[in-house]
Amino acid sequence: MRITLLRTLQGKFTLYLSLLILVIMSGLAYRNISGEKNLMEKAIVREGTALVESFAISCTNTLLYEEIGLVEEGGLLDNYISDLMQRKDLNIVYAMILDQRGKVIAHSSVTEVGNVYEDAVTRQTLTSWDTLVQAPSSRFLDISAPLAISTKRWGTLRIGISLENLKKDVSRLIWKNTLYAVGLVLLVTAAIALLFGLITNALKSLSREMDMTNTRSDISPKSATRQDEIGVLQKSFYNMLKRIKDDEKERERTQRNLLLTEKMVAIGKLTAGMAHEINNPLAGVLNCIYHFKKGALSTERQQEYLGLMEDGIGRIQKTVSNLLEYARNPGAERSPVNFGAIIEKSLSLLDFQIRKHHIQVKREIPRDLPPIKVNGDQMGQVLVNILLNAIQAMQDGGILGIRIDAQNGRFAVTISDTGKGIPNDILQKVFDPFFTTKGEGKGTGLGLWVSQIIVEQHGGTISLSSQEGKGTTVEIHLPLTWQSVS
Ligand SMILES: Nc1ncnc2c1ncn2[C@@H]1O[C@H](COP(=O)(O)OP(=O)(O)OP(=O)(O)O)[C@@H](O)[C@H]1O
Ligand SMILES: [Mg+2]
Repeated sequence: MRITLLRTLQGKFTLYLSLLILVIMSGLAYRNISGEKNLMEKAIVREGTALVESFAISCTNTLLYEEIGLVEEGGLLDNYISDLMQRKDLNIVYAMILDQRGKVIAHSSVTEVGNVYEDAVTRQTLTSWDTLVQAPSSRFLDISAPLAISTKRWGTLRIGISLENLKKDVSRLIWKNTLYAVGLVLLVTAAIALLFGLITNALKSLSREMDMTNTRSDISPKSATRQDEIGVLQKSFYNMLKRIKDDEKERERTQRNLLLTEKMVAIGKLTAGMAHEINNPLAGVLNCIYHFKKGALSTERQQEYLGLMEDGIGRIQKTVSNLLEYARNPGAERSPVNFGAIIEKSLSLLDFQIRKHHIQVKREIPRDLPPIKVNGDQMGQVLVNILLNAIQAMQDGGILGIRIDAQNGRFAVTISDTGKGIPNDILQKVFDPFFTTKGEGKGTGLGLWVSQIIVEQHGGTISLSSQEGKGTTVEIHLPLTWQSVS
């Protein structure tokens, strides 16, 4: 609770501002209290001094008249002492008159009369020729005045004023100030929390709106509902939404154009390739027919021309059937199959050629392959295309590697050969339709193109890497959980 409160802006501001106010209020209260205390102390000293000095005159006169025999003391000094003790405005705890040696002549407590005081405070009072204020303890003040005329001195008048009332007043003041400070801090804290609550609530509702806004769905233009800084934020957010929407439209348009361009290029390549692959053998066939029509062909020549016509028509048929293979069933049904079995079936189809060219097959196929949802026939076609390319690249033998890696949700089939490899400058073209290096009548150049289309229709990818003179590796990645991408 404490941590979550401190994580919020509202909590942080409330806490820090409250602490700041508390520190300021404490400083002000301290200054106020010590100022008040000083004033009260000064008032006590002023009143006490005035009192002692006025009584000192009467006491001095009494002592002087007594000395010159005008009056007999006869208890006058005790009267002054009891008068002093009657003063209720000052909290006087003792009053006394000492002679010059410190002997008590008169005292508010009769039992003290006759005692001789020799303590440090008394010594100070006896030697001072001025009114003296001393603080023997924190509980009372000792104020003394000399009983003297010019250089003639009879003794000292001393009173003790209790500071207990002052202490009570000061502690009352402390309580009052503390109460004010706590009250103010609570009030300010509540006000800050409330104000920040208003701000953060507005921010929270804007943030909720941001979270719930779906940038893909149709965003109708909105205008800010507030005029303040949060309104500015709202406006920026709505502007940003509009920009996202515009960008999204622009992106979709560019993507559509790109797709269209790609399709046009693909169709262009396909058509050009088809025209070439069909026109060439057709020209040959037409040429033979022309010679047949002329009728001047020997039997041998006729046999040769028939063979050529058969070859040409065969090539046209192969091209068309390859294209048909792809076009016939692009979204063919898929069912969970064991990919290892498809590989074995493809290898057995090519067994004769593998043995003929002394090719060694190395399999790395895990026994516990998870079933994968593909169209078995189409995948078989892909594998035959790739394996055939590898065999054709290893006419003098080599190693054909087949590995399946099915771990952590990935399914990768790697087919490598140690054949002649592909030169760098044509590596980019091998997936193009009708691209072949196998010479007239030998390859259609559709093998990798068709394979790529089939793999992509299965939601996978196919890539080829090769080093001239060292070999080629084809990698197929398929999703284990297949989803329609067409
Ligand atoms: N394993 C490989 N080793 C060397 N070159 C390769 C290999 N695989 C593909 N190629 C190159 O890529 C070209 C295109 O291959 P693709 O399978 O598409 O057509 P093709 O094999 O020429 O014709 P078809 O597959 O119709 O018989 C090949 O002509 C060849 O030059
Ligand atoms: Mg091929």
